[in-house]
Amino acid sequence: MTDQLNAIVNARLQGQNGLYTLKINNGRFSGISAQQESTIATEDELDAGGNLVTPAFVEPHIHLDAAMTAGQPRWNKSGTLFEGIDCWAERKTTLSPDDVIGRATQTLKLFAAHGIQYVRTHVDVTDPHLTALQAMLTVREQTSGFVDLQIVAFPQEGIWSFKNGRELMEEAIRLGAGVVGGIPHFEHTRDYGAESIRWLMELAHKHDLLVDVHCDEIDDPESRFLEILAAEALKLDYGSRVSASHTCAMGSYNDAYCSRLFRLLKKSGLRFLSMPTESLHLQGRFDSYPKRRGITRVPELLDAGLKVAFGQDSIRDPWYPMGNGNMLRTLDVGLHACHMLGMSWIEHSLELITENGAAALDLGEYGIGEGLPARCLVQQGQTPYEVLLGQRPVLASVRDGRVLVRRNASHPETGLML
Ligand code: FE2
Repeated sequence: MTDQLNAIVNARLQGQNGLYTLKINNGRFSGISAQQESTIATEDELDAGGNLVTPAFVEPHIHLDAAMTAGQPRWNKSGTLFEGIDCWAERKTTLSPDDVIGRATQTLKLFAAHGIQYVRTHVDVTDPHLTALQAMLTVREQTSGFVDLQIVAFPQEGIWSFKNGRELMEEAIRLGAGVVGGIPHFEHTRDYGAESIRWLMELAHKHDLLVDVHCDEIDDPESRFLEILAAEALKLDYGSRVSASHTCAMGSYNDAYCSRLFRLLKKSGLRFLSMPTESLHLQGRFDSYPKRRGITRVPELLDAGLKVAFGQDSIRDPWYPMGNGNMLRTLDVGLHACHMLGMSWIEHSLELITENGAAALDLGEYGIGEGLPARCLVQQGQTPYEVLLGQRPVLASVRDGRVLVRRNASHPETGLML
């Protein structure tokens, strides 16, 4: 089989019966047609083997600058977000371009092996030298053949609360970060947090940039920066370009407040990003029992018609020592934690790591359809349920008609002596 495909045959598509042929021309899907029966793939065709073919996975929230630094210079003993920030502040002083480029590239290759072709990474810009940011711009260029990388100017230690915070954010944008970040719940005061949101929204709007704010990543029910972010987005008619990441505090808000809040959220059209493995690990740390899950109201947001995607947040860093790049693992944990194992949720669950992430990243062209870039995955399973049950690596990842990843179906039963 050649690397450049003319078609994918024997593909199963979500919500459709039977097998399909996806024709490819010049790196784009040029036609989708039903097959009467299974067919034998030619030299320039990929045989999906009757498995589900989905759009490429989207990782909408990761911190590549900190990836693979768990335990450096020390382990996070308390398991809290705040000790993680302290550990990272120490590690940050030893960053070099090669260090960041090496770890970020290694992580992106791990992601590619799991079918991730779109990534949004936050990069800490509370560093007077912007070492990580400059290194990540190089990574974006060097890896563009296998991943679309969005870079968020992320003020880990605050915009108002860090010396020259505003200037560093503006410089990061000038250098080429395409997304404006924030962390209002970590600013020294509530006023600082509110001011930082108004300021960053104006900055993004002025430069026509996307926004992704770490918002209310805390169990404190009084942390209510989401309403400010949503109100600003509504005022600027900018909601589809703004992501609210985490919003853990929403899991602790009372229902009366949430009822009012949801009215605003629906009007604003904000995107929501939840990182279930990370939040289960970091939140609830100041509770005895019962311990809160610290995860935002995912099914309620979806029921309200809002887009919610899951992300990994960390790969072996000061905040979270685990992570293997497999989005199906994140999805599985998220569905468990959010009481979403009803079959109607499971059937649509892959949207949480595909379409909804694409909406957050504001991707212009995404999905499987005639005329769109031929970027897709061959999963191990015929339905979303089977794919989720197995959580096995993708059989193939295709990007613009080129095969990025190809592996044989694993047969876990083989060799079993029972
Ligand atoms: Fe994060």
